[in-house]
Amino acid sequence: MELIYHYFDEVDSTNTQLKKAAENAPQGTVYSAGRQTAGRGRSGHTWETPQNDSVATSLLLFPEDLTPAQSALLTPLAALAVCDAIEECCGIPAQIKWVNDVLLFQKKVSGILTEQIWTKDGRRAVIIGIGINVHQRNFPPEIADIATSVYLALTQSKADGRMRGRKELTETLWRNFTGYYERFVRKKDLAFVMERYNERLINRGRRCRILDPKGAYEGTALGIDEAGRLSVRTDGGAVRAVDSGEVSVRGIMGYV
Ligand code: BTN
Repeated sequence: MELIYHYFDEVDSTNTQLKKAAENAPQGTVYSAGRQTAGRGRSGHTWETPQNDSVATSLLLFPEDLTPAQSALLTPLAALAVCDAIEECCGIPAQIKWVNDVLLFQKKVSGILTEQIWTKDGRRAVIIGIGINVHQRNFPPEIADIATSVYLALTQSKADGRMRGRKELTETLWRNFTGYYERFVRKKDLAFVMERYNERLINRGRRCRILDPKGAYEGTALGIDEAGRLSVRTDGGAVRAVDSGEVSVRGIMGYV
């Protein structure tokens, strides 16, 4: 897939702008911004991108050969691509908190917001928006315990890595993602990356609490299956497949 990069000094949200552009722009269009004035996170949260210190980037896809449910699996693929990019560019080991938060040393460095829309001419578009904290030296007190940046991970840990700029991270990220995407379109499930994903899954082997609306329960996370569900061994010994849309998983000891 050919990637067509556009960079803006400031936008409200790269996802919002790319949604508008989807009417005319081709698949592979990437919008990145230095600052977002109304960056959006999952579950209606905001995502701060105030001052040229983060990657804020979105990719437009028209996945004609994927169902909406299959397209939802592009988010865990994007999480893997973020891990790969941080490791490749900066040399820091990255982990995933199911289903798509990327962590460095147990703190969140990146989040992904995938949105599906219909264009006026009836095509289904998928917009994958990724934020990566790169140069931040500190975070607001309310998230300081759970957020990190590439810079902080390198300086606070004894990690043997190197600092890289936002452009290099962005281009490496989308190059890795499109590699996964092209394979996924042929295979239609996550079997080909399950091992790779599960190796990075911070929840794996850990106690977790499943906040199921039908009743919360605890168990041990085993890993994802080919449909992206988290397999959890409950205390009764049964293995349940947990869907990200239905439930929220909390580590017993807090964020992870
Ligand atoms: C999350 O809640 O973890 C997801 C955060 C996603 C943020 C990115 S930054 C680029 C793109 N534009 C947005 O408004 N949101 C996404």
